[in-house]
Amino acid sequence: MTQPIHPLDPITAPEIAVLKTTLAEAGIEGPQIRYSYVMLREPDRATLRAWTQGAPVPREIGVLVTDKAANTAREMVVDIPARRIVHDRMLDPATDGWGPILDEDYVAAEEIAKADPDYRAAMERRGITDLERVRCAPLSAGVFGHADEVGRRMIRVLSFLDQEGTHAMFAHPIEGVVAHVDLTERRVLRLVDTGYPSIPAESGDYLDPAIAGAPRTDMKPLRITQPEGASFTIRDHVLDWQNWRLRIGFNGREGLTLHDIAFNDRGRMRPILNRASISEMVVPYGEPQPTHDWQNYFDAGEYQFGRLANSLVLGCDCLGKIHYLDATVVDDFCQPVIIRNAICIHEEDYGTLWKHTDFMTGQGTVRRQRRLVISFFVTVGNYDYGFYWYLYLDGRIELECKATGIVFTSGHPGGAYDYATLMAPGLGAPIHQHMFSARLDVAIDGDRCHVDELDVARLPIGPENPLGNAFTRHVTRLRTEAEAQRDADNAVGRVWRIASSEARNRVGEPTAYVLMPEGQPGLLAAEGASIRKRAAFATRHLWVTRHDRDQMWAAGYTPNQHPGGAGLPSYAAADRDIDGQDIVVWHSFGLTHFPRPEDWPVMPVDYAGFKLRPEGFFDRNPTLDVPEDPNGREHSSRCCAPD
Ligand code: CO
Repeated sequence: MTQPIHPLDPITAPEIAVLKTTLAEAGIEGPQIRYSYVMLREPDRATLRAWTQGAPVPREIGVLVTDKAANTAREMVVDIPARRIVHDRMLDPATDGWGPILDEDYVAAEEIAKADPDYRAAMERRGITDLERVRCAPLSAGVFGHADEVGRRMIRVLSFLDQEGTHAMFAHPIEGVVAHVDLTERRVLRLVDTGYPSIPAESGDYLDPAIAGAPRTDMKPLRITQPEGASFTIRDHVLDWQNWRLRIGFNGREGLTLHDIAFNDRGRMRPILNRASISEMVVPYGEPQPTHDWQNYFDAGEYQFGRLANSLVLGCDCLGKIHYLDATVVDDFCQPVIIRNAICIHEEDYGTLWKHTDFMTGQGTVRRQRRLVISFFVTVGNYDYGFYWYLYLDGRIELECKATGIVFTSGHPGGAYDYATLMAPGLGAPIHQHMFSARLDVAIDGDRCHVDELDVARLPIGPENPLGNAFTRHVTRLRTEAEAQRDADNAVGRVWRIASSEARNRVGEPTAYVLMPEGQPGLLAAEGASIRKRAAFATRHLWVTRHDRDQMWAAGYTPNQHPGGAGLPSYAAADRDIDGQDIVVWHSFGLTHFPRPEDWPVMPVDYAGFKLRPEGFFDRNPTLDVPEDPNGREHSSRCCAPD
């Protein structure tokens, strides 16, 4: 596609060219200019709703422009059809932070570190004279009160020994050394060397048969066949599957975005979500040594993980009848980059949907569940993350985040140590969290919604509960943005009900979905820690804000070196009314990762996510019309008859 045909279509290569030209005509061009966060600024609700097929498509693209020579950054928006800059704001790096890490920063960090005499001396003290064997990890710097860093683009560098000349450098952390690199002046501002001479020597090459063992030979093929194809259709980014309809988007920051998710309820298209995405994620480390205590990575805002999406491989990443979509992202020079097969769409069998055997007649009936899977996978340094959205036949929506790859490593001091797991001889893996923020622009039967917190409640024995068997559910309406900053509580089965403020079901209740959190810990860093201000979104499992077109980022637009307070705390600061308004639900969730030896040398997938389940959205089980035998009777004449 070269030109968009719908306002929510992903940006196209010709539009990216118009963006660059329009900026150039305003004098913004040249070898010192870099372009980040190039993505669609989606139209406001009124414009989007008023738009009709075939009308001119409103298109604005946002971009963060960094001038490396002037050491400035500005956020800009260009109206693409009008070829006009419609927003231009110079950032103050001291209070606004910087744009994300640039591709060239990876190279620069290594060059700058290795050119520094103190860094070379630190390597020599560890017996490393051949710097060709040293790999420098370019890690976002955070904000830790170093006055000399204010206003400079910073990065911190931890180093690894590329002992085998393979991908397995994380087995060999060069502990005790961190270079604080000033990218602006291309020099090491500070070298911290706490001393730690030994480097773990054991190979972590998980592809080496000496470690992995010979491939097992007793694994038979397991193939998914769909002889008549898949049950979904996709046309111009609109996906239809089993009463579901939604629109697929993608950008270089959030990766996959889902739009206008609706369910065809016996002929009536009923909206559920206007938009769903992962707005941000952060990986804060819990290791207090001065070489690690600053480690916090915002993989969306600091590394633009959408740009790091993998090209997926049929039969390896994905089984069955797969439909892939390519993604167009934009590099630091405002050139389009097409990631082939970035988005995977397929359907999966998911076991039993519903089943009953009548105990009088012995007659049994069973229906099988299926789900539609829309996913992408990214690689951010040592870690790999999969983001899997599932839509189920019965109206459930689920997000499953998969974390795999290689845990970040350190030198382990030996003995009992509270902040890192001993993974292999001398090799540590610091404890950490992976915290995600899902931004859910909800629209349960329309934009006007409200949120109730539901807790189970035990009741004392009394006149109304003489036997003490009663229990119930307490319902608390969250009326304002301040009231709606909530923690999960599995001890009371806490869920949040997102209900229409207009539509009712056939028993007279507001139509609703329930957000079911996993209830794992939120951000664990102490009160007063820098990361608590910078990743404030992760300190609460739930936030609800009034919808605002530009309030998209849980940790703010520019989290890199941002001192904190941006994103959700600032969005909610006005404490707006959210009861019966056009609202956005933000859910923070994640993994608290105490690495296991089994996570080494490559980590089996671990999971974090949440579910959205209809609760009174439908008038009854919406899957009574699912046929008993879509697969045909392969094994017996009747599903439940014994062979
Ligand atoms: Co982890």
